[in-house]
Amino acid sequence: MKGTTVTVCIIMISSILSECCLATSSQPHIIVIIADDLGWDDVSFHGSDQIPTPNIDELAYSGVLLHNYYVQPICTPTRAALMTGRHPIHLGLQDGVIVASHPYGLPLNETIMPQYLKPLGYDTHIVGKWHLGFFAWQYTPLYRGFDTHFGYYNGEEGYYDHTAEEPKYIGLDFRNNTELFKSAYGEYSTELFTSYAEKIIHNHNKNKPLFLYLAHQAVHSGNSYSPLEAPYKYTSRFPYIQDERRRTFAGMVSALDDSVGNITRALKHSGLYENCIILFSTDNGGPAAGFDANYASNWPLRGIKHTLWEGGVRGDGFIHSPLLEKPGRISTDMIHVCDWLPTIYHIAGGNVSSLPTNLDGFNVWDTLSRGTPSPRTEILHNIDPHKNHNAAALRVGEFKIILGTEEHGEWDGWYEPEEYTKENKKNDPRAAVVYCGEKPGNASTNCNSG
Ligand SMILES: *[C@@H]1O[C@H](CO)[C@@H](O)[C@H](O)[C@H]1NC(C)=O
Ligand SMILES: *[C@@H]1O[C@H](CO)[C@@H](O)[C@H](O)[C@H]1NC(C)=O
Ligand SMILES: *[C@@H]1O[C@H](CO)[C@@H](O)[C@H](O)[C@H]1NC(C)=O
Ligand SMILES: *[C@@H]1O[C@H](CO)[C@@H](O)[C@H](O)[C@H]1NC(C)=O
Ligand SMILES: *[C@@H]1O[C@H](CO)[C@@H](O)[C@H](O)[C@H]1NC(C)=O
Repeated sequence: MKGTTVTVCIIMISSILSECCLATSSQPHIIVIIADDLGWDDVSFHGSDQIPTPNIDELAYSGVLLHNYYVQPICTPTRAALMTGRHPIHLGLQDGVIVASHPYGLPLNETIMPQYLKPLGYDTHIVGKWHLGFFAWQYTPLYRGFDTHFGYYNGEEGYYDHTAEEPKYIGLDFRNNTELFKSAYGEYSTELFTSYAEKIIHNHNKNKPLFLYLAHQAVHSGNSYSPLEAPYKYTSRFPYIQDERRRTFAGMVSALDDSVGNITRALKHSGLYENCIILFSTDNGGPAAGFDANYASNWPLRGIKHTLWEGGVRGDGFIHSPLLEKPGRISTDMIHVCDWLPTIYHIAGGNVSSLPTNLDGFNVWDTLSRGTPSPRTEILHNIDPHKNHNAAALRVGEFKIILGTEEHGEWDGWYEPEEYTKENKKNDPRAAVVYCGEKPGNASTNCNSG
């Protein structure tokens, strides 16, 4: 009996300690969650009721929702800007994505986020997608400031077999640190990455600040033999979506939403939540209507992933943190993905004036936390003189100019989910709201009439 009492006491004391007193790192824990190919209309916090995302919405509504937040139109450039704080035109990465056979990567003379955070005392982990080059070890995460990597190097792969079907090559693309990790076979990526990230959170030494970069595979399409994959427990949440492809896509989104819920739960249980910052962002607009064999939606924004229309570059994004001074807001300030590097450096306790002077990003912490106006008044979406697309776009204040076109102009329209067009749209208040963002001209008329 005595023994039992003592054990109970010890458990109580240790739980009190872990709740309040052992969390001694004063620098915030930084959790960056990137969704892949998630469209503007694929989260319910933008008003759609087709795919409810309650866990994501809960963080978004009680954080700061970013309504004028921009990413690059495709994957590699956005991730490069996120990691460096520099625009992809300054990295030689503005044109396309890195495929398996490409012998290049994010240039080695660039300092990247974990390399800035390590000297400030952070433990640094990446879980999921890299996509910034792997033709030589020096380009891979463990050689660039990350303590661990559990995930893959390329742009897309099977959600269960983790096989990447790349131009010229096909094979397993899954690593635990630098070793091939064959036991991932049969495990659904979204759940695999989530449980691994939860382990990192639970095992983290609370005396040190944590940087966790969770770069999900969801909701990118997989390989050609099985482009859309989700467990039945997620797809079965959407019996009302007739189109099987959109239904599976919805299941993929729903798994992503559960992931965010599970990560939040892990942060709370481990005592890291009170001193953490969660940044959520897509990497580009959604591939809609079968582009990339996928069925995302950016409605009512125009265009898709890879285009410079709003649907390609205006991203889902929010920041959530108990440390925000004025949470529960929608920010309409202009923010670009390259702003995260200086902002996170600042949050982590770094002195932004000691960062290299050739960064393109701004520290927007005051804008996020207190609502002071963003120092950013313009966003260069891209300048890409490549012979096949030759497109450029710039937003300055309320105006935007687009020159040339991507994808030979074939994806310049509006692509709402099909049954949504038929049934719900006439009742959707967003149909009357013109935030298609394409000015001037009659684009807004097109937007309303679908
Ligand atoms: C890295 O080198 C390239 C090519 O010389 C240059 O354009 C780029 O600005 C350099 N990056 C940094 C951070 O100095
Ligand atoms: C991953 O590799 C590390 C060593 O690099 C090892 O300690 C760890 O147990 C491995 N994780 C899994 C899930 O196998
Ligand atoms: C979230 O956690 C639940 C258990 O609470 C688990 O069943 C589910 O698979 C997890 N989802 C993801 C995406 O990790
Ligand atoms: C940040 O660095 C600048 C320039 O090196 C210096 O003048 C300033 O005092 C520093 N700020 C803090 C808070 O240390
Ligand atoms: C605007 O409408 C005019 C007349 O209908 C048409 O010729 C023009 O192509 C339209 N412009 C755009 C950007 O849709």
